[in-house]
Amino acid sequence: MRLPPALRSLRWRLAALIGMVVVLAVAGTFVVIYRGTGTQLRDQIDSELQSDAVSFDRGGVPARPASAPEIEEQAGAYLARQPYRASNRLLFLQVDDRPPIANEPANTRPLLGVRAGYSNVELPNVGQLRVYRSTVRRGGRAVAAIGVGEPLAPVERAQDYVVRTFLVAGTATLALALLLGYLVAVRTARPLRRMARVAARVDAGDLSPRMHQPGRSDEIRQLADSFDTMLDRLEDAFARQRAFASDASHELRTPLTVIRGQLEVLARIPDPSPADVSHVERLVRTEIVRMERLVQDLLVLARADESEFLQRRSIELEPFAEDLLDGFRATADRRFVSGGVPRGFLDADPDRLAQALRNLLRNAIEQTGPGGLVRLTASARGNWVTFAVEDDGPGIPPGQRDRVFDRFHRTDSARNRVRGGVGLGLAIVRAIAEAHGGRVAAGESPEGGARVEISLPGFSPQPVKRYAPAVSS
Ligand SMILES: Nc1ncnc2c1ncn2[C@@H]1O[C@H](COP(=O)(O)OP(=O)(O)OP(=O)(O)O)[C@@H](O)[C@H]1O
Ligand SMILES: [Mg+2]
Repeated sequence: MRLPPALRSLRWRLAALIGMVVVLAVAGTFVVIYRGTGTQLRDQIDSELQSDAVSFDRGGVPARPASAPEIEEQAGAYLARQPYRASNRLLFLQVDDRPPIANEPANTRPLLGVRAGYSNVELPNVGQLRVYRSTVRRGGRAVAAIGVGEPLAPVERAQDYVVRTFLVAGTATLALALLLGYLVAVRTARPLRRMARVAARVDAGDLSPRMHQPGRSDEIRQLADSFDTMLDRLEDAFARQRAFASDASHELRTPLTVIRGQLEVLARIPDPSPADVSHVERLVRTEIVRMERLVQDLLVLARADESEFLQRRSIELEPFAEDLLDGFRATADRRFVSGGVPRGFLDADPDRLAQALRNLLRNAIEQTGPGGLVRLTASARGNWVTFAVEDDGPGIPPGQRDRVFDRFHRTDSARNRVRGGVGLGLAIVRAIAEAHGGRVAAGESPEGGARVEISLPGFSPQPVKRYAPAVSS
Protein backbone atom coordinates (compact mmCIF):
# COMPACT_ATOMS: atom_id res chain seq x y z
CA MET A 1 0.00 0.00 0.00
CA ARG A 2 1.40 3.38 -1.00
CA LEU A 3 1.07 6.15 1.58
CA PRO A 4 0.13 9.68 0.47
CA PRO A 5 3.29 11.87 0.28
CA ALA A 6 2.34 13.91 3.38
CA LEU A 7 2.22 10.76 5.52
CA ARG A 8 5.54 9.56 4.13
CA SER A 9 7.29 12.58 5.65
CA LEU A 10 9.76 12.09 8.47
CA ARG A 11 7.57 13.70 11.14
CA TRP A 12 4.64 11.40 10.45
CA ARG A 13 6.79 8.32 10.32
CA LEU A 14 8.50 9.29 13.60
CA ALA A 15 5.12 9.98 15.25
CA ALA A 16 3.78 6.65 13.96
CA LEU A 17 6.86 4.84 15.27
CA ILE A 18 6.49 6.41 18.72
CA GLY A 19 2.75 5.52 18.64
CA MET A 20 3.57 1.91 17.78
CA VAL A 21 6.10 1.65 20.60
CA VAL A 22 3.57 3.08 23.08
CA VAL A 23 0.81 0.70 21.87
CA LEU A 24 3.14 -2.29 22.24
CA ALA A 25 4.30 -1.17 25.70
CA VAL A 26 0.73 -0.55 26.94
CA ALA A 27 -0.53 -3.82 25.40
CA GLY A 28 2.32 -5.79 27.01
CA THR A 29 1.73 -4.21 30.41
CA PHE A 30 -2.03 -4.84 30.04
CA VAL A 31 -1.58 -8.55 29.33
CA VAL A 32 0.75 -8.97 32.32
CA ILE A 33 -1.52 -7.06 34.75
CA TYR A 34 -4.77 -8.63 33.41
CA ARG A 35 -3.47 -12.14 33.78
CA GLY A 36 -1.69 -11.34 37.05
CA THR A 37 -4.89 -9.94 38.58
CA GLY A 38 -6.87 -13.10 37.60
CA THR A 39 -4.21 -15.52 38.81
CA GLN A 40 -3.69 -13.72 42.11
CA LEU A 41 -7.41 -13.54 42.91
CA ARG A 42 -7.99 -17.19 41.92
CA ASP A 43 -5.04 -18.34 44.08
CA GLN A 44 -6.47 -16.41 47.00
CA ILE A 45 -9.93 -17.94 46.48
CA ASP A 46 -8.41 -21.43 46.17
CA SER A 47 -6.59 -21.17 49.51
CA GLU A 48 -9.69 -19.76 51.25
CA LEU A 49 -11.84 -22.56 49.80
CA GLN A 50 -9.44 -25.13 51.17
CA SER A 51 -9.38 -23.62 54.67
CA ASP A 52 -13.23 -23.37 54.64
CA ALA A 53 -13.38 -27.04 53.65
CA VAL A 54 -11.15 -27.91 56.62
CA SER A 55 -13.45 -25.91 58.99
CA PHE A 56 -16.53 -27.59 57.46
CA ASP A 57 -14.88 -31.01 57.95
CA ARG A 58 -14.18 -30.24 61.62
CA GLY A 59 -17.42 -28.44 62.58
CA GLY A 60 -20.01 -29.85 60.17
CA VAL A 61 -19.38 -33.59 60.32
CA PRO A 62 -19.45 -35.76 63.51
CA ALA A 63 -15.96 -36.50 64.79
CA ARG A 64 -16.69 -40.24 65.18
CA PRO A 65 -17.98 -42.63 62.53
CA ALA A 66 -21.74 -42.02 62.25
CA SER A 67 -24.72 -42.98 60.11
CA ALA A 68 -25.74 -41.04 57.06
CA PRO A 69 -28.78 -39.33 58.70
CA GLU A 70 -26.58 -38.32 61.68
CA ILE A 71 -24.02 -36.85 59.42
CA GLU A 72 -26.64 -35.03 57.36
CA GLU A 73 -28.29 -33.67 60.50
CA GLN A 74 -25.09 -32.15 61.93
CA ALA A 75 -24.10 -30.85 58.52
CA GLY A 76 -27.58 -29.35 58.05
CA ALA A 77 -27.20 -27.46 61.34
CA TYR A 78 -23.73 -26.22 60.31
CA LEU A 79 -25.02 -25.11 56.92
CA ALA A 80 -27.99 -23.33 58.49
CA ARG A 81 -25.56 -21.19 60.54
CA GLN A 82 -23.75 -20.13 57.39
CA PRO A 83 -26.32 -19.23 54.76
CA TYR A 84 -25.02 -18.56 51.28
CA ARG A 85 -26.50 -15.04 51.19
CA ALA A 86 -24.38 -13.88 54.14
CA SER A 87 -21.10 -15.64 53.53
CA ASN A 88 -21.25 -15.75 49.72
CA ARG A 89 -19.68 -19.22 50.00
CA LEU A 90 -21.55 -22.25 48.81
CA LEU A 91 -21.11 -25.26 51.13
CA PHE A 92 -22.40 -28.71 50.32
CA LEU A 93 -22.10 -32.23 51.63
CA GLN A 94 -22.94 -35.56 50.02
CA VAL A 95 -23.12 -38.92 51.73
CA ASP A 96 -22.75 -41.84 49.35
CA ASP A 97 -25.22 -41.45 46.46
CA ARG A 98 -27.79 -39.43 48.41
CA PRO A 99 -28.69 -35.99 47.04
CA PRO A 100 -26.28 -33.36 48.32
CA ILE A 101 -27.40 -30.89 50.95
CA ALA A 102 -26.20 -27.30 50.62
CA ASN A 103 -26.55 -23.82 52.17
CA GLU A 104 -27.98 -22.62 48.82
CA PRO A 105 -31.40 -24.05 48.04
CA ALA A 106 -30.92 -23.53 44.28
CA ASN A 107 -30.50 -26.50 42.01
CA THR A 108 -27.47 -28.33 43.40
CA ARG A 109 -27.60 -31.13 40.84
CA PRO A 110 -24.54 -29.91 38.89
CA LEU A 111 -22.53 -30.33 42.14
CA LEU A 112 -23.05 -34.10 41.93
CA GLY A 113 -20.56 -34.53 39.14
CA VAL A 114 -17.85 -32.31 40.67
CA ARG A 115 -14.58 -34.18 40.87
CA ALA A 116 -12.22 -34.08 43.84
CA GLY A 117 -9.93 -31.04 44.10
CA TYR A 118 -10.53 -27.71 42.28
CA SER A 119 -12.89 -27.20 39.35
CA ASN A 120 -15.19 -24.59 37.79
CA VAL A 121 -18.95 -25.20 37.79
CA GLU A 122 -21.81 -23.22 36.29
CA LEU A 123 -24.80 -23.00 38.69
CA PRO A 124 -28.19 -21.52 37.79
CA ASN A 125 -28.90 -18.27 39.76
CA VAL A 126 -25.28 -18.23 40.98
CA GLY A 127 -23.18 -18.21 37.83
CA GLN A 128 -19.57 -19.46 37.51
CA LEU A 129 -18.32 -21.04 40.71
CA ARG A 130 -14.86 -22.06 41.78
CA VAL A 131 -15.36 -25.32 43.72
CA TYR A 132 -13.08 -27.31 46.03
CA ARG A 133 -14.24 -30.80 46.87
CA SER A 134 -12.62 -33.13 49.43
CA THR A 135 -13.42 -36.42 51.10
CA VAL A 136 -14.28 -36.62 54.83
CA ARG A 137 -12.63 -39.63 56.51
CA ARG A 138 -13.53 -41.08 59.88
CA GLY A 139 -11.79 -44.12 61.33
CA GLY A 140 -9.85 -44.57 58.08
CA ARG A 141 -13.07 -44.74 55.98
CA ALA A 142 -14.60 -42.20 53.59
CA VAL A 143 -17.90 -41.16 55.12
CA ALA A 144 -18.90 -38.16 52.99
CA ALA A 145 -17.76 -35.68 50.37
CA ILE A 146 -17.85 -31.99 51.16
CA GLY A 147 -17.38 -29.06 48.85
CA VAL A 148 -16.92 -25.30 49.11
CA GLY A 149 -17.64 -22.97 46.20
CA GLU A 150 -17.23 -19.26 45.59
CA PRO A 151 -18.57 -17.24 42.66
CA LEU A 152 -15.92 -16.06 40.17
CA ALA A 153 -17.88 -12.86 39.46
CA PRO A 154 -15.54 -10.64 41.59
CA VAL A 155 -12.54 -11.94 39.62
CA GLU A 156 -14.32 -11.15 36.38
CA ARG A 157 -15.29 -7.72 37.73
CA ALA A 158 -11.68 -7.01 38.72
CA GLN A 159 -10.48 -8.04 35.28
CA ASP A 160 -13.17 -5.90 33.65
CA TYR A 161 -11.94 -3.00 35.74
CA VAL A 162 -8.38 -3.61 34.54
CA VAL A 163 -9.64 -3.65 30.94
CA ARG A 164 -11.57 -0.41 31.37
CA THR A 165 -8.70 1.30 33.18
CA PHE A 166 -6.27 0.28 30.47
CA LEU A 167 -8.61 1.35 27.71
CA VAL A 168 -8.96 4.84 29.19
CA ALA A 169 -5.36 5.28 30.40
CA GLY A 170 -3.91 3.57 27.29
CA THR A 171 -5.88 5.77 24.90
CA ALA A 172 -4.87 8.90 26.80
CA THR A 173 -1.20 7.81 26.89
CA LEU A 174 -1.27 6.95 23.21
CA ALA A 175 -2.83 10.29 22.27
CA LEU A 176 -0.29 12.15 24.42
CA ALA A 177 2.61 10.10 23.01
CA LEU A 178 1.43 10.72 19.45
CA LEU A 179 1.16 14.43 20.10
CA LEU A 180 4.57 14.64 21.79
CA GLY A 181 6.11 12.41 19.12
CA TYR A 182 4.69 14.60 16.40
CA LEU A 183 6.00 17.76 18.10
CA VAL A 184 9.47 16.24 18.57
CA ALA A 185 9.46 15.02 14.98
CA VAL A 186 8.38 18.44 13.70
CA ARG A 187 11.19 20.04 15.71
CA THR A 188 13.75 17.55 14.35
CA ALA A 189 12.51 17.73 10.80
CA ARG A 190 12.19 21.51 10.63
CA PRO A 191 15.91 22.24 9.97
CA LEU A 192 16.03 19.34 7.50
CA ARG A 193 13.07 20.76 5.61
CA ARG A 194 14.74 24.17 5.64
CA MET A 195 17.92 22.56 4.35
CA ALA A 196 15.95 20.93 1.54
CA ARG A 197 14.47 24.33 0.62
CA VAL A 198 17.94 25.94 0.67
CA ALA A 199 19.29 23.08 -1.48
CA ALA A 200 16.43 23.55 -3.94
CA ARG A 201 17.24 27.27 -4.24
CA VAL A 202 20.92 26.43 -4.73
CA ASP A 203 19.91 23.90 -7.36
CA ALA A 204 17.94 26.65 -9.10
CA GLY A 205 21.13 28.72 -9.30
CA ASP A 206 20.85 30.99 -6.23
CA LEU A 207 23.97 30.44 -4.11
CA SER A 208 23.21 33.13 -1.53
CA PRO A 209 20.90 31.37 1.03
CA ARG A 210 22.45 29.90 4.19
CA MET A 211 21.12 27.77 7.03
CA HIS A 212 22.57 29.85 9.94
CA GLN A 213 21.23 27.14 12.27
CA PRO A 214 21.00 28.51 15.83
CA GLY A 215 21.13 26.48 19.04
CA ARG A 216 23.26 23.69 20.48
CA SER A 217 26.06 22.06 18.54
CA ASP A 218 24.16 18.82 17.87
CA GLU A 219 24.25 16.65 14.73
CA ILE A 220 21.73 18.88 12.92
CA ARG A 221 23.71 22.02 13.73
CA GLN A 222 26.95 20.35 12.55
CA LEU A 223 25.26 19.31 9.31
CA ALA A 224 23.88 22.83 8.80
CA ASP A 225 27.30 24.39 9.48
CA SER A 226 28.99 22.02 7.02
CA PHE A 227 26.27 22.85 4.52
CA ASP A 228 26.93 26.59 4.95
CA THR A 229 30.71 26.12 4.63
CA MET A 230 30.17 24.06 1.49
CA LEU A 231 27.96 26.80 0.03
CA ASP A 232 30.56 29.47 0.91
CA ARG A 233 33.20 27.51 -0.96
CA LEU A 234 30.86 26.79 -3.84
CA GLU A 235 29.92 30.45 -4.16
CA ASP A 236 33.57 31.43 -4.01
CA ALA A 237 34.52 28.83 -6.64
CA PHE A 238 31.69 29.96 -8.93
CA ALA A 239 32.66 33.61 -8.51
CA ARG A 240 36.28 32.80 -9.37
CA GLN A 241 35.18 30.67 -12.30
CA ARG A 242 32.98 33.49 -13.62
CA ALA A 243 35.74 36.06 -13.15
CA PHE A 244 38.19 33.75 -14.90
CA ALA A 245 35.86 33.16 -17.85
CA SER A 246 35.04 36.84 -18.21
CA ASP A 247 38.71 37.88 -17.88
CA ALA A 248 39.76 35.21 -20.36
CA SER A 249 37.16 36.27 -22.93
CA HIS A 250 38.01 39.91 -22.37
CA GLU A 251 41.71 39.24 -22.93
CA LEU A 252 40.92 37.30 -26.09
CA ARG A 253 38.56 39.96 -27.38
CA THR A 254 41.11 42.76 -27.09
CA PRO A 255 43.56 41.37 -29.69
CA LEU A 256 40.64 40.39 -31.92
CA THR A 257 39.34 43.98 -31.81
CA VAL A 258 42.79 45.27 -32.68
CA ILE A 259 43.08 42.82 -35.60
CA ARG A 260 39.65 43.76 -36.96
CA GLY A 261 40.39 47.48 -36.58
CA GLN A 262 43.68 47.13 -38.46
CA LEU A 263 42.04 45.15 -41.27
CA GLU A 264 39.27 47.76 -41.57
CA VAL A 265 41.86 50.54 -41.78
CA LEU A 266 43.62 48.62 -44.53
CA ALA A 267 40.34 48.02 -46.37
CA ARG A 268 39.54 51.72 -46.33
CA ILE A 269 42.81 52.64 -48.05
CA PRO A 270 41.85 52.64 -51.77
CA ASP A 271 45.22 51.56 -53.06
CA PRO A 272 47.37 50.31 -50.15
CA SER A 273 51.12 50.50 -50.58
CA PRO A 274 53.34 47.53 -49.64
CA ALA A 275 54.46 49.60 -46.62
CA ASP A 276 50.81 49.95 -45.46
CA VAL A 277 50.26 46.23 -45.86
CA SER A 278 53.41 45.23 -44.00
CA HIS A 279 52.59 47.69 -41.20
CA VAL A 280 49.18 46.13 -40.71
CA GLU A 281 50.64 42.64 -41.08
CA ARG A 282 53.19 43.37 -38.34
CA LEU A 283 50.51 44.62 -35.97
CA VAL A 284 48.19 41.72 -36.73
CA ARG A 285 51.02 39.21 -36.27
CA THR A 286 51.88 40.72 -32.88
CA GLU A 287 48.29 40.33 -31.75
CA ILE A 288 48.11 36.76 -33.01
CA VAL A 289 51.29 35.88 -31.11
CA ARG A 290 49.76 37.44 -28.04
CA MET A 291 46.58 35.41 -28.47
CA GLU A 292 48.57 32.21 -28.98
CA ARG A 293 50.43 32.82 -25.74
CA LEU A 294 47.23 33.54 -23.90
CA VAL A 295 45.58 30.36 -25.17
CA GLN A 296 48.71 28.37 -24.27
CA ASP A 297 48.75 29.83 -20.78
CA LEU A 298 45.07 29.05 -20.28
CA LEU A 299 45.69 25.49 -21.42
CA VAL A 300 48.56 25.10 -18.94
CA LEU A 301 46.29 26.29 -16.12
CA ALA A 302 43.46 24.05 -17.22
CA ARG A 303 45.77 21.00 -17.28
CA ALA A 304 47.53 21.73 -14.01
CA ASP A 305 45.17 19.44 -12.10
CA GLU A 306 45.69 16.47 -14.43
CA SER A 307 47.95 13.67 -13.29
CA GLU A 308 50.12 13.69 -16.41
CA PHE A 309 50.78 17.44 -16.10
CA LEU A 310 54.26 16.70 -14.74
CA GLN A 311 56.98 14.50 -16.27
CA ARG A 312 59.33 14.21 -13.33
CA ARG A 313 63.05 13.60 -13.72
CA SER A 314 66.13 14.00 -11.63
CA ILE A 315 67.43 17.53 -12.25
CA GLU A 316 70.98 18.52 -11.39
CA LEU A 317 70.44 21.99 -9.96
CA GLU A 318 73.67 23.90 -10.73
CA PRO A 319 73.78 23.39 -14.54
CA PHE A 320 69.99 23.72 -14.67
CA ALA A 321 70.03 27.19 -13.08
CA GLU A 322 73.07 28.33 -15.07
CA ASP A 323 71.56 27.27 -18.42
CA LEU A 324 68.32 28.99 -17.55
CA LEU A 325 70.01 32.30 -16.83
CA ASP A 326 72.32 32.00 -19.86
CA GLY A 327 69.24 31.78 -22.05
CA PHE A 328 68.25 35.27 -20.90
CA ARG A 329 71.62 37.00 -20.94
CA ALA A 330 71.49 37.93 -24.63
CA THR A 331 67.82 38.98 -24.56
CA ALA A 332 67.99 41.99 -22.26
CA ASP A 333 70.44 44.53 -20.97
CA ARG A 334 70.36 43.54 -17.29
CA ARG A 335 72.86 42.43 -14.68
CA PHE A 336 72.04 38.72 -14.47
CA VAL A 337 73.41 37.22 -11.27
CA SER A 338 73.14 33.71 -9.95
CA GLY A 339 74.19 32.56 -6.52
CA GLY A 340 74.11 29.94 -3.83
CA VAL A 341 72.65 27.18 -5.96
CA PRO A 342 73.24 24.02 -3.86
CA ARG A 343 74.88 20.92 -5.28
CA GLY A 344 72.34 18.23 -5.60
CA PHE A 345 69.40 16.89 -7.48
CA LEU A 346 65.72 17.72 -7.53
CA ASP A 347 62.92 15.34 -8.40
CA ALA A 348 60.80 17.61 -10.64
CA ASP A 349 59.59 18.25 -14.17
CA PRO A 350 62.48 20.25 -15.73
CA ASP A 351 60.32 21.79 -18.48
CA ARG A 352 57.59 22.97 -16.10
CA LEU A 353 60.12 24.19 -13.53
CA ALA A 354 61.99 26.10 -16.25
CA GLN A 355 58.68 27.56 -17.44
CA ALA A 356 57.88 28.80 -13.92
CA LEU A 357 61.36 30.30 -13.37
CA ARG A 358 61.30 31.92 -16.81
CA ASN A 359 58.00 33.62 -15.90
CA LEU A 360 59.71 35.02 -12.79
CA LEU A 361 62.81 36.13 -14.70
CA ARG A 362 60.65 37.73 -17.40
CA ASN A 363 58.70 39.65 -14.77
CA ALA A 364 61.96 40.85 -13.20
CA ILE A 365 63.23 41.99 -16.61
CA GLU A 366 59.92 43.75 -17.34
CA GLN A 367 60.02 45.56 -14.00
CA THR A 368 63.60 46.85 -14.30
CA GLY A 369 65.27 49.20 -16.72
CA PRO A 370 68.56 48.75 -18.67
CA GLY A 371 71.37 47.75 -16.30
CA GLY A 372 68.85 46.63 -13.70
CA LEU A 373 69.54 43.68 -11.40
CA VAL A 374 68.02 40.25 -12.06
CA ARG A 375 69.19 37.63 -9.58
CA LEU A 376 68.41 33.91 -9.45
CA THR A 377 69.34 32.10 -6.23
CA ALA A 378 68.53 28.74 -4.70
CA SER A 379 68.93 27.32 -1.20
CA ALA A 380 68.26 23.91 0.27
CA ARG A 381 66.76 23.01 3.62
CA GLY A 382 66.20 19.33 4.35
CA ASN A 383 64.65 17.92 1.23
CA TRP A 384 63.18 21.27 0.20
CA VAL A 385 64.81 23.67 -2.21
CA THR A 386 63.78 27.30 -2.60
CA PHE A 387 64.39 29.21 -5.83
CA ALA A 388 64.17 32.98 -5.59
CA VAL A 389 64.16 35.60 -8.34
CA GLU A 390 65.03 39.09 -7.10
CA ASP A 391 65.31 42.45 -8.81
CA ASP A 392 65.84 46.11 -7.97
CA GLY A 393 62.68 47.35 -9.66
CA PRO A 394 59.70 49.01 -7.96
CA GLY A 395 58.80 45.84 -6.05
CA ILE A 396 55.36 44.43 -5.30
CA PRO A 397 53.29 46.48 -2.82
CA PRO A 398 52.81 44.47 0.44
CA GLY A 399 49.02 44.44 0.04
CA GLN A 400 49.32 42.78 -3.37
CA ARG A 401 51.82 40.04 -2.52
CA ASP A 402 49.23 37.29 -2.22
CA ARG A 403 46.94 38.47 -4.97
CA VAL A 404 49.62 38.73 -7.67
CA PHE A 405 49.39 34.92 -7.92
CA ASP A 406 45.69 35.10 -8.84
CA ARG A 407 44.77 34.65 -12.46
CA PHE A 408 44.66 37.90 -14.44
CA HIS A 409 45.74 39.92 -11.45
CA ARG A 410 47.99 42.84 -12.28
CA THR A 411 49.02 45.69 -10.03
CA ASP A 412 47.56 48.99 -11.14
CA SER A 413 50.86 50.26 -12.48
CA ALA A 414 51.06 47.16 -14.70
CA ARG A 415 47.59 47.54 -16.23
CA ASN A 416 49.13 48.78 -19.37
CA ARG A 417 48.65 46.90 -22.58
CA VAL A 418 51.89 48.00 -24.16
CA ARG A 419 54.13 46.93 -21.29
CA GLY A 420 52.14 44.50 -19.21
CA GLY A 421 51.17 40.93 -19.93
CA VAL A 422 47.76 39.49 -19.23
CA GLY A 423 48.46 38.51 -15.62
CA LEU A 424 48.71 34.74 -15.97
CA GLY A 425 52.49 34.36 -15.47
CA LEU A 426 52.45 34.09 -11.66
CA ALA A 427 49.22 32.02 -11.67
CA ILE A 428 51.09 29.51 -13.81
CA VAL A 429 54.08 29.65 -11.43
CA ARG A 430 51.81 28.81 -8.51
CA ALA A 431 49.99 26.04 -10.42
CA ILE A 432 53.35 24.43 -11.33
CA ALA A 433 54.66 24.73 -7.75
CA GLU A 434 51.49 23.23 -6.28
CA ALA A 435 51.47 20.39 -8.81
CA HIS A 436 54.93 19.51 -7.41
CA GLY A 437 53.57 19.67 -3.84
CA GLY A 438 55.37 22.99 -3.30
CA ARG A 439 54.38 26.61 -2.63
CA VAL A 440 55.12 30.18 -3.73
CA ALA A 441 55.61 33.47 -1.92
CA ALA A 442 56.26 37.10 -2.86
CA GLY A 443 58.35 39.51 -0.82
CA GLU A 444 60.98 42.19 -1.03
CA SER A 445 64.57 41.89 -2.27
CA PRO A 446 67.50 43.41 -0.27
CA GLU A 447 67.66 46.12 -2.95
CA GLY A 448 64.04 47.09 -2.32
CA GLY A 449 62.71 45.42 -5.45
CA ALA A 450 60.63 42.27 -5.70
CA ARG A 451 61.52 38.80 -4.52
CA VAL A 452 59.39 35.88 -5.67
CA GLU A 453 60.09 32.37 -4.36
CA ILE A 454 59.22 28.85 -5.42
CA SER A 455 59.78 26.13 -2.77
CA LEU A 456 59.65 22.50 -3.84
CA PRO A 457 60.17 19.21 -2.02
CA GLY A 458 62.21 16.37 -3.54
CA PHE A 459 65.76 17.71 -3.12
CA SER A 460 68.61 15.33 -2.38
CA PRO A 461 72.42 15.60 -2.60
CA GLN A 462 72.46 12.36 -4.65
CA PRO A 463 70.82 11.75 -8.04
CA VAL A 464 67.22 10.73 -7.53
CA LYS A 465 66.82 7.16 -8.77
CA ARG A 466 63.72 6.67 -10.84
CA TYR A 467 62.40 3.64 -12.58
CA ALA A 468 63.09 3.93 -16.32
CA PRO A 469 61.60 1.34 -18.67
CA ALA A 470 64.20 -0.45 -20.82
CA VAL A 471 64.28 0.98 -24.33
CA SER A 472 64.85 -1.60 -27.02
CA SER A 473 66.87 -0.31 -29.99
N1 LIG B 1 59.25 41.38 -10.27
C1 LIG B 1 58.14 42.10 -10.12
N2 LIG B 1 58.20 43.42 -9.68
C2 LIG B 1 57.06 44.14 -9.52
N3 LIG B 1 55.81 43.69 -9.79
C3 LIG B 1 55.70 42.42 -10.24
C4 LIG B 1 56.84 41.58 -10.41
N4 LIG B 1 56.40 40.37 -10.85
C5 LIG B 1 55.04 40.48 -10.94
N5 LIG B 1 54.62 41.69 -10.58
C6 LIG B 1 53.23 42.19 -10.56
O1 LIG B 1 52.38 41.07 -10.53
C7 LIG B 1 51.48 41.11 -11.63
C8 LIG B 1 51.18 39.69 -12.07
O2 LIG B 1 52.33 39.11 -12.66
P1 LIG B 1 52.13 38.03 -13.75
O3 LIG B 1 53.43 37.53 -14.16
O4 LIG B 1 51.14 37.05 -13.22
O5 LIG B 1 51.39 38.81 -14.91
P2 LIG B 1 52.00 39.72 -16.02
O6 LIG B 1 53.45 39.67 -15.93
O7 LIG B 1 51.33 41.04 -15.87
O8 LIG B 1 51.44 39.00 -17.31
P3 LIG B 1 51.96 37.68 -17.99
O9 LIG B 1 53.04 37.15 -17.11
O10 LIG B 1 50.78 36.80 -18.06
O11 LIG B 1 52.47 38.09 -19.29
C9 LIG B 1 52.19 41.91 -12.65
O12 LIG B 1 51.26 42.49 -13.52
C10 LIG B 1 52.91 42.94 -11.83
O13 LIG B 1 52.02 43.97 -11.51
MG1 LIG C 1 54.51 37.88 -15.99
